[in-house]
Amino acid sequence: MKALVLAGGSGTRLRPITHTSAKQLVPVANKPVLFYGLEAIAAAGVRELGIVVGDTQAEIEAAVGDGSAFGLQVTYLRQDAPLGLAHAVLIARDFLGDDDFVMYLGDNFIVGGINDLVSRFVQAKPDAQIMLTQVGDPRQFGVAELDAAGRVIGLEEKPQRPKSDLALVGVYLFTPAVHEAVAELKPSWRGELEITDAIQWLIDHGRHVESTTITGYWKDTGNVTDMLEVNRLVLEHLDAETHGVCEDSELIGRVTLQPGARVERSRIVGPAIIGPGARVSDSYVGPFTSIGADCVIDGSEIEYSIVLPRASIQGVRRIEASLIGHDVEVTPAPNTPRAHRLVLGDHSKVQISS
Ligand code: G1P
Repeated sequence: MKALVLAGGSGTRLRPITHTSAKQLVPVANKPVLFYGLEAIAAAGVRELGIVVGDTQAEIEAAVGDGSAFGLQVTYLRQDAPLGLAHAVLIARDFLGDDDFVMYLGDNFIVGGINDLVSRFVQAKPDAQIMLTQVGDPRQFGVAELDAAGRVIGLEEKPQRPKSDLALVGVYLFTPAVHEAVAELKPSWRGELEITDAIQWLIDHGRHVESTTITGYWKDTGNVTDMLEVNRLVLEHLDAETHGVCEDSELIGRVTLQPGARVERSRIVGPAIIGPGARVSDSYVGPFTSIGADCVIDGSEIEYSIVLPRASIQGVRRIEASLIGHDVEVTPAPNTPRAHRLVLGDHSKVQISS
């Protein structure tokens, strides 16, 4: 079995972070969200992986390399325009050959990995296997309709009037039968070749499509609220490790200090992670916070947030539910005049409390 990971796409919902970096590399508990997927694929016993990349190819390649760090052999497959998930399968045709494969969307996060899913597929040998989960707003997803026996009878991509609240999770298992389906597709209303339509084609042509409904948590990490939730969830399961230096400080609960992290005269309430080379001084870091590599947090309070590498927060009380990008500087304004001074990139969002 091979794997196909989709790591193209422009990540519009995560702007401005994704103006400068791929959405699949946004860190969750200081590790790119994509890496959790790669680890799950390797844990399921797959070795050969194709990664479909777009404009952010260089960045993805720099992060993943040849895949050996994950026990994977990676081939990069270039998709010149974001023409859809089924289009990605089309361009991966030579790489996939006649093998079965697991397709994994690089911005999805599946708690508990995919081992069970893969072994069920190997045993039952359907033509395709999909994963479903209940969601609050199915209109943002591919949506499945099941019959009384629980068989999938229809799938619709981002329907206005969803027939159920069961969304397609971004992990699919396919036999080579999918290539026949993909070859027949026409672009959807959003101009993409939809994998949802390919699976519908399989159903319409009498092929066997299995579904499993997972109750385990998952998120399409397409927006900031979801990112913070996934970060919270991962931190909740992280074992504390102290590789950094801690002086005159209180670490409460599960707090991880990565190598070279330094905490002075501060109070950190876990679960939280402080990245390599980061410095936290005279500050409070609250639960569910990830401070990235080489950040500086000084004289500040921050909680339930993600701070990306090299950002600096000095003299600011208090920051909550925030996603702060690479190299960002947050400092207090001078006392007079009492004014906010902002230098914000395109698509930034600021909520000021004054
Ligand atoms: C894609 C699929 C959709 C699926 C979702 C899961 O949506 O088209 O069916 O439910 O991934 O993340 P997109 O990310 O293209 O909006």
